Amino acid sequence: MRSSTLLTLLVAAVTAKPTANAPPPGAVIVKPGDNLQSIVNANAGKTIFLQAGKYKGPIVIKSKITMMGATDNEESYSGNKATITIYRAQEEGFNNHQTAAVQVEADGVKFYHVNFENTWGLKPSKDPKNPIKNQALAVSTQGDEIGFYGCKLDGWQDTLETEGKGARSLGKQVFAKCLVQGCTDFIFGKTAAAWFEDCDIKVKDKDVGYVTAQGRENKNGGGHYVFNKCEVSGSAKGGSYFLGRPWRPFAAVMFQNSKLSGVINQAGWSKWKPDNVTEPVGDLEFREYQNTGAGSDIKGRKLGKRASGPDSISKTLGGDYNSWVDMKYMK
Ligand SMILES: *[C@@H]1O[C@H](CO)[C@@H](O)[C@H](O)[C@H]1NC(C)=O
Repeated sequence: MRSSTLLTLLVAAVTAKPTANAPPPGAVIVKPGDNLQSIVNANAGKTIFLQAGKYKGPIVIKSKITMMGATDNEESYSGNKATITIYRAQEEGFNNHQTAAVQVEADGVKFYHVNFENTWGLKPSKDPKNPIKNQALAVSTQGDEIGFYGCKLDGWQDTLETEGKGARSLGKQVFAKCLVQGCTDFIFGKTAAAWFEDCDIKVKDKDVGYVTAQGRENKNGGGHYVFNKCEVSGSAKGGSYFLGRPWRPFAAVMFQNSKLSGVINQAGWSKWKPDNVTEPVGDLEFREYQNTGAGSDIKGRKLGKRASGPDSISKTLGGDYNSWVDMKYMK
């Protein structure tokens, strides 16, 4: 290395904010305008580093890669500078998965400090109170041992779908220090066990909205969600949102050690169709444990119940979770 290059690197190192990330050694560095899909296809097993800017989705990931975005804050999503964006909805003839800006179809994929957005909800609406009327995902995961760290997932309806591989076997997934935002069923899926750690869950303005639409289909097996140390908030009017409604009759969701603002309705949870008297609710597992905030009072709950203790990450993701979860983001 020439000494002038070394000097430049040293100066860069002392002037950079201490929290700024940089491409790790060996990373494939990508800039806006590059063909991200072909770079992803050609670099199985590698780390792909996105420089600041916008990248057009869809990006389909079929091998184990790590994707990192430029950021000036490695502790949060707030300094993220790289965004993968799409404007696409199911009504255009796609299935849910195909509408997502990023479509994961592999095990072991990890994302750090990348923003994902589906801007379909910006389409002008005839009914301003209900801006979204179609499934339009930002991220869809089909796989096991998948991690999102310091990422931002932004949509309106169905922002994030979590599934196992081929949407059948159980997929274990973790979302840590992320922001997930939307309005209708915006965290949903049937076959992933997903743990959300220290995430901000932000609801967009809407008359009625649902954070989760979990879809476990039978008692023994299938996915479920645990939200641990998360914060649910937003500027929608008080009581307009539910923590979840059941996509399928064995839906299983836990909110624990979290802050639930007054945007959450006192009933906490909703049926799929509130006025359907024959909809079964006896097998739902909507649980809450030691939450705080104006939306956390369990007295008005009908479908949700207080859990006797917190769920553990090892019970949720399996005892070997620290072999694939990045523990730096879990404190
Ligand atoms: C009400 O729930 C029942 C039982 O799940 C279902 O078969 C029926 O289609 C639902 N009705 C409506 C209008 O959604």
